[in-house]
Amino acid sequence: MTKLAIIYHSAHGHTEHIARRVLEGAQQVDGVEVRLIKAEDIGTRPDDLVDFDGFILGSPTYLGGVSGQFKSFMDATGRLWRTQGLKGKLAAGFTVSSLPAGDKQSTLMSMFVFAMQHGMLWVGNPILPEQHSGVPYDEAANRLGSWSGLMAQAGHSAPADSFVPGDVKTARMFGRNFADTLRRVEAQARQDATAEA
Ligand SMILES: Cc1cc2nc3c(=O)[nH]c(=O)nc-3n(C[C@H](O)[C@H](O)[C@H](O)COP(=O)(O)O)c2cc1C
Repeated sequence: MTKLAIIYHSAHGHTEHIARRVLEGAQQVDGVEVRLIKAEDIGTRPDDLVDFDGFILGSPTYLGGVSGQFKSFMDATGRLWRTQGLKGKLAAGFTVSSLPAGDKQSTLMSMFVFAMQHGMLWVGNPILPEQHSGVPYDEAANRLGSWSGLMAQAGHSAPADSFVPGDVKTARMFGRNFADTLRRVEAQARQDATAEA
């Protein structure tokens, strides 16, 4: 079974709400076992990461970057960086913030660089913005136009589930695309290993 971990931090529930929608999308793909893990928890036992084939990383955007708690998780993987224990695994990222732009791109970039330093392979968010096809803006997949990772916008001080339908839909599509990509890459790797044996 191919194993995928969605690792996230969420102080007020918005990022967790999106993480659960990403999970729903990933669970639509047969042959992939998906786990939702808090960054604070896995940060205390980073060696457990080697058991997974791929990671979807999620953090709120705080002052144009990942939250302190998410950075602590990333820093806890330093020993795995030395051994390159995560090399060749797949990774993707998502972030939630309250403003339409809000410097979310910087957050995705720090996740991307983290994945690159570990030798991982980055998977983006290949979804055309549906508003270009006439879908109402709030209902459109990838309405925020982010291909390097998933972006979602939460109303300032709004309840944790107060996302527009387009962002919820995008989160499910993003999770499904990642899980499907992971399944295909893992299947190819197994086929190659069999051919070499
Ligand atoms: C310390 C702090 C810094 C923040 N910085 C930004 C920011 O740079 N851009 C932005 O759009 N929102 C910013 N926000 C808003 C959060 O990104 C937003 O409330 C998000 O939904 C929080 O996610 P959570 O509920 O999962 O913790 C900030 C919030 C806090 C508490």
